[in-house]
Amino acid sequence: MVNIVLLGPPGSGKGTQAEMIGSEYGWPQISTGNILRHAIEEGSDLGKKAKSYMDEGELVPDDLVDEIVKQRLGKPDCEGGYLLDGFPRDVHQAKALDSFSKIKLVIDIQVPDEQIISRLSGRRVCDCGQTYHIQFNPPKGEGVCDLCGKKLIHREDDQPDTISHRLEVYHRKTEPLIEFYRGHGVLEVVDGTKHIDDIFEAIKSKIDKL
Ligand code: AP5
Repeated sequence: MVNIVLLGPPGSGKGTQAEMIGSEYGWPQISTGNILRHAIEEGSDLGKKAKSYMDEGELVPDDLVDEIVKQRLGKPDCEGGYLLDGFPRDVHQAKALDSFSKIKLVIDIQVPDEQIISRLSGRRVCDCGQTYHIQFNPPKGEGVCDLCGKKLIHREDDQPDTISHRLEVYHRKTEPLIEFYRGHGVLEVVDGTKHIDDIFEAIKSKIDKL
């Protein structure tokens, strides 16, 4: 079973690479950010609790997120392996994950802070999960998704002030996971400043060695 975690700062390309890896290997991609955004759209209890944290670029409380992931990983489509994007986000979540699943590979996508602001301010996303960048990875049609034709969205938390705060939260809470997983002997690092296709090749070579 190939259970993989994608680590990296906001905007490092976790979602972009998760889409590509998921299509190549047929594993489900589990993005806690997407699950939480859908919960907000549906107006569920979870969405109501998560919204203010997400709007401010704070992490949603661990107890809410741990339970969602535990339930999701228990579904039959995860039996052959899965990709986690956006979870774990701190050491508490990593320990919770250890208690209900075994991680085989953690890929840390490294991108310096200076590049993050331009990546996130130019990002456009679709409901279907596809991600674009107005300059680096533009859709073929003006403002609509290549895959499903829906109108693309500029995420609320992709505004400069919120991006800076998300980066600060990343360095304080999520970055310590690099050493945590290095200590578990499962960490691999890729240079996230390269072209999307080159990063994908680098990740594939690490997966194929498993
Ligand atoms: P989440 O949705 O997980 O956001 P994030 O981690 O901040 O990551 P992003 O989705 O912003 O970026 P990404 O790394 O996926 O980059 P992407 O591929 O889109 O979380 C949002 C919020 O939800 C959190 O702030 C928190 O409140 C909450 N949350 C989520 N999970 C949680 C958890 N476990 N615990 C608690 N709270 C949680 O790429 C970015 C842009 O760059 C795109 O436009 C893309 O086209 C472009 N791009 C990608 N690769 C390249 C490249 N190589 N070169 C040039 N451009 C590129």
